[in-house]
Amino acid sequence: MEKIWSGFYKKNREERLNVIKNANLLDESHLELIEKNVVLDYETANNMVENVVGTFSLPFSVVPDFVVDDKTYLVPLVTEEPSVVAACNNAGKIVATSGGFKTTIHDRKMIGHVALYDIKDAENAEKIILENKALLLATANEAYPSIVKRGGGACDIDVKILSENETTFVVVYLVVDTLEAMGANMLNTMLEAIKVSLETLTGGISLMAILSNYATSSLITTKCEIPFDKLTSKDNGEDLAKRIELASKFAKIDVYRAATHNKGIFNGIDSIVIASGNDWRAVEAACQSYAAKNGRYEGLSTWTCNFENKTLIGELTLPMPVASVGGSIGINPSVKLARHLLKNPNAKTLASIIVSVGLAQNLAALRALVGEGIQKGHMKLHAKSLAILAGATNDILDEVVDKLRKEKHMNLATAKKIVEEILD
Ligand code: HMG
Repeated sequence: MEKIWSGFYKKNREERLNVIKNANLLDESHLELIEKNVVLDYETANNMVENVVGTFSLPFSVVPDFVVDDKTYLVPLVTEEPSVVAACNNAGKIVATSGGFKTTIHDRKMIGHVALYDIKDAENAEKIILENKALLLATANEAYPSIVKRGGGACDIDVKILSENETTFVVVYLVVDTLEAMGANMLNTMLEAIKVSLETLTGGISLMAILSNYATSSLITTKCEIPFDKLTSKDNGEDLAKRIELASKFAKIDVYRAATHNKGIFNGIDSIVIASGNDWRAVEAACQSYAAKNGRYEGLSTWTCNFENKTLIGELTLPMPVASVGGSIGINPSVKLARHLLKNPNAKTLASIIVSVGLAQNLAALRALVGEGIQKGHMKLHAKSLAILAGATNDILDEVVDKLRKEKHMNLATAKKIVEEILD
């Protein structure tokens, strides 16, 4: 761990900004964005989406010393939920001192499809489509020449025949290298261009032509290997490691647990995806559908013990169709800042960091869940929100939080009682 970041979370805002300044991560203009808390202005917001009446804020936090592929990052997280940032900090630190996360980028392409129906001979249609692959790819690329100029573009076509009751669809999948973009508009333009040719070739009718969010050609795997004794200071860590392995097995077989297990992963993933200006609905759709890839919804991460090495090994593979350009990325000042803090990663590097944040978040949650329980750490940090909700103003906030943390029942009613007592 770099010394300058030590105790970062215990500092006040001014001290934190000084640490960031001294870390030389930001130039003057970006330092100003952070110092003056510059956020999206109304005029820009009004040009981004429809019916705008204002802008909406969320806390912007950073997690220092997050190590992915031997590089150390200051990870920006945007979330409203107490303890998510602390959890990422906590697990990020444990993993950083164990060699960090190591990632593998399997591929970075996007898939879209055209669904055709009313085809008399589906097998023959499939044959014709595949025979005309080169022509179809050329048509797709002609529809979006700029991506071809940059070195990407449509590169493959696949066909599936799918039937539901009496209806048969011939589904044509187009695979596109979208380079640094997420590629939704690119794919949709290309798909709409080839749908006419597909109708002519097959005699069928196109039902729709659209990108798929099931981004199985954008898979990233992240791994970490943690010595048992780094998991806890209480004992040699073996029991905790075994219980984390059991928790990961449990999440593979019980859908009720799997949903919560994965929610914990997305506490981190959504926070960094939002900070990086990417489409978190697309990421959620991709990953939640990937959780059902084996025919049932499962926990996405896997934790196993290596008793010979006395290590706990974590692994998470996810589709991560994120971009470094396009969408709100060049527009929102907070996103520009977040990207600078991450040293302006390209799409693949950003995806590697995001998936690693997901695994860190999962480790922190499981470590707490199978250890002392989630409430102790979570509620400790939730106390501030409760105190504010109970009407604590800044001058009495710390006092209310201190008293609340000592109470057996840490809830809104108790917080209100404490505020009343102090103000009396
Ligand atoms: P702790 O070990 O009780 O506290 O952790 P600690 O004071 O010993 O701190 C340990 C480290 O945590 C610190 O190390 C920090 O890195 C970090 P240090 O730097 O001091 O050497 N840390 C903090 N970082 C930033 N701000 C803070 C802060 N406090 C500690 N204020 C902690 C306490 C909350 C971190 C731990 O209990 C934890 O990781 N819990 C998990 C919390 C969590 O997952 N929250 C998400 C919300 S719950 C949920 O939605 C998901 C869930 O349902 C998912 C699932 O079921 O799988 C749980």
